[in-house]
Amino acid sequence: MEPVNAAIIYYSASGTVHALAQAAVEGAEKAGATVRLRKVAETLSDEVINAKPPAWAEHRDASADVALAQLDDLDWADVVLLGTPTRFGLVSSQLKAFIDGTSPLWAEGKLAGKVYSAFTASSTAHGGQESTILALSNVFYHWGGIIVPPGYTDPIQFQSGNPYGTSHVAGTGVPGDVALQAARHQARRAVDVATALKAGRAAA
Ligand SMILES: Cc1cc2nc3c(=O)[nH]c(=O)nc-3n(C[C@H](O)[C@H](O)[C@H](O)COP(=O)(O)O)c2cc1C
Repeated sequence: MEPVNAAIIYYSASGTVHALAQAAVEGAEKAGATVRLRKVAETLSDEVINAKPPAWAEHRDASADVALAQLDDLDWADVVLLGTPTRFGLVSSQLKAFIDGTSPLWAEGKLAGKVYSAFTASSTAHGGQESTILALSNVFYHWGGIIVPPGYTDPIQFQSGNPYGTSHVAGTGVPGDVALQAARHQARRAVDVATALKAGRAAA
């Protein structure tokens, strides 16, 4: 059987979610997937970003080489992980803009039957990580997706403490070992389920 295709699609203003996405790439590759790491298009002008805290412009420049997410990346993928900063307890408008552009695939039923999972970061511990991941689940329902959360399926989950999806409190600094391991585990698990599904469908 061909390896499963995993698309890890994210938005990150100052690099936190990007770091989680990179860890997810490692986990997905370790599980045997062919992986595409993609950032969604920025909707803010350079002028606006330059007026934000310096980390925003620094991350924009540091991630200039990451390819932009396209509809084809979703079409290609067997498993999709979406990552976003928490914005007022919700998904960032940049990731939402990408999601809103998926109607053509949705209308053809091409988003259904894939495995989906989500991860996030927020400044504060109770700043809306779970509500953000659950908001993304609404999208997965509409797409007819198979949601694979990390749950407490690995010892790292009892340290990271978020069964909905990997999350990091950015106000404490950059993601450390626990968050990065949780992101690797989440991606590995999503790929494992997608692999079993692909094998089962091929056998059916
Ligand atoms: C418009 C806006 C809204 C935000 N809303 C929240 C929030 O509801 N809760 C919270 O804890 N942090 C909030 N934050 C902080 C971001 O979640 C945090 O900066 C982000 O997770 C860092 O991820 P990044 O480095 O990938 O951009 C907000 C930031 C912005 C710019």
